[in-house]
Amino acid sequence: MQYLKIEGEAKLSGEVKISGAKNAALPLIALTILSKHSVKITNLPDVTDIKTLITLLSNLGAKTELLNAHEAQIDTNSINSTKANYDIVRKMRASILVLGPLLSRYGHCEVSLPGGCAIGARPIDLHLNALEKMGAKIEIKQGYVVVTAPKGGLKGANISFDKITVTGTENIVMAAALANGTTRLLNAAKEPEVTALCEIINASGVKIEGIGTDELIIHGSGGKLLELEHIQVIPDRIEAGTYLCAGAITNSKITITNCEPKHLGSVLAKFEDMGFGFDINEDKITIKPAKQIKAVEIITTEYPGFPTDMQAQFMAVACVAKGTSVIDERLFENRFMHVSELLRMGAEIKLNGHIATVTGANLTGADVMATDLRASSALVLAALVAKGQTSVHRIYHLDRGYENLEGKLTSLGAKIQRLDEK
Ligand code: UD1
Repeated sequence: MQYLKIEGEAKLSGEVKISGAKNAALPLIALTILSKHSVKITNLPDVTDIKTLITLLSNLGAKTELLNAHEAQIDTNSINSTKANYDIVRKMRASILVLGPLLSRYGHCEVSLPGGCAIGARPIDLHLNALEKMGAKIEIKQGYVVVTAPKGGLKGANISFDKITVTGTENIVMAAALANGTTRLLNAAKEPEVTALCEIINASGVKIEGIGTDELIIHGSGGKLLELEHIQVIPDRIEAGTYLCAGAITNSKITITNCEPKHLGSVLAKFEDMGFGFDINEDKITIKPAKQIKAVEIITTEYPGFPTDMQAQFMAVACVAKGTSVIDERLFENRFMHVSELLRMGAEIKLNGHIATVTGANLTGADVMATDLRASSALVLAALVAKGQTSVHRIYHLDRGYENLEGKLTSLGAKIQRLDEK
């Protein structure tokens, strides 16, 4: 195992290029299951979650090739199995994204139940209820959910999600794409990653109305495969937000490039509340230091609200702000695993259920443990500003979703080393 050793009290400067979005790339990789053609995907982030899903497709019999660190060629016409094994699904919950497309194209799918996860129970009942409405039969057998489409394929249906679910929306849109008839999906997620998926399906022969809204109408093709040959992944808004937090916590001027400012509205608004300024160009954002970093109030919610995937990083910044910040986590019941580690660095945080109250303090370096993807990046951010040295252990969590984090931060002037645990 490896860890990161980070020198604190850093000042950053310069530019950093944002990678493709992991959470957009995952459903798009699953979408290749619906294509008539071999598909080239570009602007993939070089992170382990992407490799995990490509390995899963290859285990199903697809021909997959990594052309370079950021491009893959995937031909799913050779798929000869519809079973996503426990070994892969336990590594990555998002493996559930193969469920909709496999069922829609092959009429059958077995996926190991994802089980618990560090940030909460995260069930898949909404995915399954919707598939049932489309005529699928669902059984649980030996830890696997076994889903079978009716003879002749899934049927379009009227579905209303009781709760907004991102991967649930993506799964059902992909299932509906080849279904017979029209599916109307109410209370759909409208995260940019969902919109990107819908736009690509819409351009590949299956008409989708309401893209970018919470009501999607998918005109199923009745089994006809997608005319899809090339996919370009959108920039990662969470990685972009994380580097802006690196600028913020060190109160440095830095620029992120290859990003999509439109996707960062709620995040930029909170930075403004904290006293930071911005220069925004087409695909570049420069964050400018604050006279004094101010406390902030944050409620996480669905897009276009403030993303839960930025909550931990903003908490790190709140740890050095003047005054008391209040962070209300509304999406996941147990997404405060970073709090106990930040406390080890001298943070002043009080937890009351899903609300964290954070009072600005001086942070000091410590040995801390990464617990999930975004929690890990919050610890790295805190380490940048802490007095002395911090070692962040269990960084395999970081490698799941951040491409070359230490390389990118080093290029901005941080002192970070990746070392092997003794
Ligand atoms: C996706 C993102 C993740 C992000 C999350 C919320 C990917 C690969 N992951 O996760 O980074 O933090 O959206 O923006 O895109 N729920 C149910 N039943 C279900 C499904 C979800 O109760 O069947 C609940 C969850 O427990 C959670 C809420 O709905 O409380 C939202 O979860 P969801 O949007 O489904 O998260 P993911 O799609 O897993």
